[in-house]
Amino acid sequence: MQYTTNQTEEFMVKEGKDVAQLFSPFFEETTCIHQENTYVAQNKKYTSKIQIFHKNKQKLYTFSHFLPKNCSFLQEKSFIKAYHKAHLYWALKKFFHTSFAWGALTGIHPTMVVRKLIQQGFSKQKIVHQLHSVYGVSHQKIKMLFQIIKTQGALQVPANHVHLYIHIPFCPSKCMYCSFLAEELCTQKHALQKYILYIKQDILNALWVIKQQNLTLQSIYFGGGTPTTLSAEQLEDVLSILPNNIPEFTVEAGRPDTITKEKLQVLKNYGVTRICINPQTMHNQTLQTIGRWHTAEQIKEAKLLAQPFGFEINTDLIAGLPNETEAMFASTLQQVLALKPHQITVHTLSVKKGSPLEKLQPTPTHTKRMVTRAYAYLTKHHYKPYYMYKQKNMFDHQENIGYTKTKPCLFNVHTMEECASVIACGAGAISKRVALETGKIERLAQPKDITLYQNRFEELMQKRAEFFNKKL
Ligand SMILES: C[S@@+](CC[C@H](N)C(=O)[O-])C[C@H]1O[C@@H](n2cnc3c(N)ncnc32)[C@H](O)[C@@H]1O
Ligand code: SF4
Repeated sequence: MQYTTNQTEEFMVKEGKDVAQLFSPFFEETTCIHQENTYVAQNKKYTSKIQIFHKNKQKLYTFSHFLPKNCSFLQEKSFIKAYHKAHLYWALKKFFHTSFAWGALTGIHPTMVVRKLIQQGFSKQKIVHQLHSVYGVSHQKIKMLFQIIKTQGALQVPANHVHLYIHIPFCPSKCMYCSFLAEELCTQKHALQKYILYIKQDILNALWVIKQQNLTLQSIYFGGGTPTTLSAEQLEDVLSILPNNIPEFTVEAGRPDTITKEKLQVLKNYGVTRICINPQTMHNQTLQTIGRWHTAEQIKEAKLLAQPFGFEINTDLIAGLPNETEAMFASTLQQVLALKPHQITVHTLSVKKGSPLEKLQPTPTHTKRMVTRAYAYLTKHHYKPYYMYKQKNMFDHQENIGYTKTKPCLFNVHTMEECASVIACGAGAISKRVALETGKIERLAQPKDITLYQNRFEELMQKRAEFFNKKL
């Protein structure tokens, strides 16, 4: 497949490629798309001509659009971008007789598109029209977007608020599908002990930056990897340097094979309010296939063990796992619901190029129905969707959705909606500064490689302090 455009602006090429990518499974090797855009600034008229060359047929589509009155330069640019994508989407949809639930909205955060339109003063009716008739988004996804925005409520985060993220890149075993930074613990026990020395110093430096900059810590998120691969003593060693009066403090206990009563007690003692116990699936056969060394029974046991401690509990699931049918996914949903977690996050399997999962030839066509079923089933049982995001290479171009029966997890909402700053510790952790007034967002990443992170530690600490000190 080849996509070209006469528009030299970087964003045009990127946006067009994203849409063309959606349809790539239907392309022959010889398929070429050429999009020609002209924009006459004087009369604010935008025209786009698309030619699709295919083995047996060649088609030409033309389209023109006048931009709305009083459109500022910034708006013009985003309008042109949106129409450029939409036009290509509709042309390819017609050509290949196929459509996608998110239409031309290929970005990671569709809720942010809706929030922008709300801020610009568009009525709900106009936004629905824009999403459905211009971008081609399905009515079910539009309904969900509005539900999410309603559950999230206003997102006016004070400028001096910050979240603290701590990354532990170790797990008991590496799951076959996982693209997160995680080392298998069985071969890395010594590396973990060394990592703890660095992460503690990293946290102390972050707390110092928070104090120096007069920031208010809104939440702590101890994620990974699997932070509960640390022993109870190691957990205590790290948690004891953190403040323990933070209203929201999450620990990804993820794998039930790492959870013990002793560790849960340490989490409770140090102010943790929310933990994740993640089945992904309740089918032991699949758990074995994907390399998770635990069973569905262990999930139930871990939930029972955690219950008396009074944490909020989240459970992660994945739709589209290898060899799973829709009925199997439905049974996972049912079993997880019976455990009565406060939150359930339904991910759609995303398969990275070169991942061993590619060889297993999973069943992508069921995934859309699984995700739709999860939405219907969970909302029927009073779980509200409260955050969502999309990733590259997701089966059926679906999304990840967090559902909650209680209050939303602020860290998840604020990071996905990009409306609050994050100070991040550990290898691969990414700090973020957000200036809501200007819409400016900047990021600073620490190296993913653990050795590099440790070797460059002093320099990284200095860079992060400067990052939070500079004017945004
Ligand atoms: C950062 S991971 C860590 C969670 C924890 N270590 C565990 O596995 O239970 C968070 C979640 O992302 C999801 N995830 C990871 N890789 C994925 C993939 N390739 N496709 C879809 N979901 C994925 C899983 O549901 C996982 O629980
Ligand atoms: S336990 Fe979690 S972070 Fe670790 S490899 Fe599995 S999915 Fe990835």
